Amino acid sequence: MQIFITIHLYVMARQGFPNQYVELAAILFMAAFNGFHTPLCDLFGIRYPVVLAGMAGGLTTPLLVAEVSNAGGLGILGAARLSPEQTREQIQAIKSMTDKPFGVNFLVAPPQPNDQDIRAVQKTLDAFRQDLGINPSGQDNITVPPSHLSEQLEIVFEEKVPILSFALGDPSRFVKQAHVAGSKVMAMVTTVEEAKKVADAGCDVIVAQGSEAGGHRSTFEIPKDGSVPLVGTMALVPQVVDAAKNVPVVAAGGIMDGRGIAACLALGAQGVQLGTRFLAANESGAFLAYKLRMLGAAETDTVITSAFTGRPARSIRNRFITEFEKSGVSPLSWPLQGLAADDIYRTAWAKNNANYFPILAGQGLRLLKSGQGAAEIMEDLVKETRESVVKLTKLTNL
Ligand SMILES: Cc1cc2nc3c(=O)[nH]c(=O)nc-3n(C[C@H](O)[C@H](O)[C@H](O)COP(=O)(O)O)c2cc1C
Repeated sequence: MQIFITIHLYVMARQGFPNQYVELAAILFMAAFNGFHTPLCDLFGIRYPVVLAGMAGGLTTPLLVAEVSNAGGLGILGAARLSPEQTREQIQAIKSMTDKPFGVNFLVAPPQPNDQDIRAVQKTLDAFRQDLGINPSGQDNITVPPSHLSEQLEIVFEEKVPILSFALGDPSRFVKQAHVAGSKVMAMVTTVEEAKKVADAGCDVIVAQGSEAGGHRSTFEIPKDGSVPLVGTMALVPQVVDAAKNVPVVAAGGIMDGRGIAACLALGAQGVQLGTRFLAANESGAFLAYKLRMLGAAETDTVITSAFTGRPARSIRNRFITEFEKSGVSPLSWPLQGLAADDIYRTAWAKNNANYFPILAGQGLRLLKSGQGAAEIMEDLVKETRESVVKLTKLTNL
């Protein structure tokens, strides 16, 4: 019925009735589809095609994940740095707070061979330790602990988590296993070639990560010099949409409000994935100084650096990055650099010190709002998207 009235109003507007008819038609059109609705909503069983990026290291708390899902989006738990026991506990905590679909995210980048000097890196890091009041490190032989990924995946399947999300590599080898267990697979890519690979492997959803994005670049193969393709969301999304054929594409990178969401839908994305915006939410695990650093930052304040983990990531420039660069020492390879500096990050977190912690964030920083809960952010995003679409619809009647 609503659709019938909508079409009727639109036709009247085309026949010369006032512009308000077009606006009313657009509002009814959006309302008929519960705000905004794409086939991705049906695939995942969610109300709005808005995804909370899984952010590892305690940032996407179970409460944040549950709140986004309860508000009609898709909450994703960043599980890359959890033990198998913590993975199960956090999944069960989410289930106790929501009966809506949610996902779990993993990073699949294998350790890279290291030919950098661990002692030289430790010497540089020791200056940071001194500032933080911790002992210098004599650790010059760092080993990468064994991966928990296969145990974590078993848990995710046992717990019947409906959506698995993968980043920092090609997750094609997990697709069959996930489908047998009844889970859908999302894969994050940064180029059309990567998108084609995961589409051919049967991934259910492709996340196209533009260069504005906060956090690690999801590039599959990173050359030794750490250079990565940096294709912006505006250019990447429509090219991935064209290459992905029938696989739905979710846009990520620099999307902070309804204007960004409407733009991504116009580019052909069926949904959006937001990290930075939700990182400032009351329920996120980011410590206060982290949130304040983001809230005080501008679009020009981020850089792509390998100084934190050995893999390129977008972060707000802070003392750690500047001083590490000044030292002239090359970071260790992934993930050794992060392991070498782990005591620094833990202490910085405990001391609420944003100078010596990876303040990972995207480029849309001036659009951040403080003091909002995830449900309120979701409400704003839906309202703003509808408003943006209505504004655009008016343009079609010029
Ligand atoms: C602090 C932070 C941590 C992140 N950690 C992860 C992660 O663990 N797994 C993942 O798939 N993506 C991670 N991302 C990247 C997001 O998936 C996404 O690409 C990005 O947040 C989108 O850009 P935006 O931050 O501008 O919204 C992280 C992003 C941020 C800002």
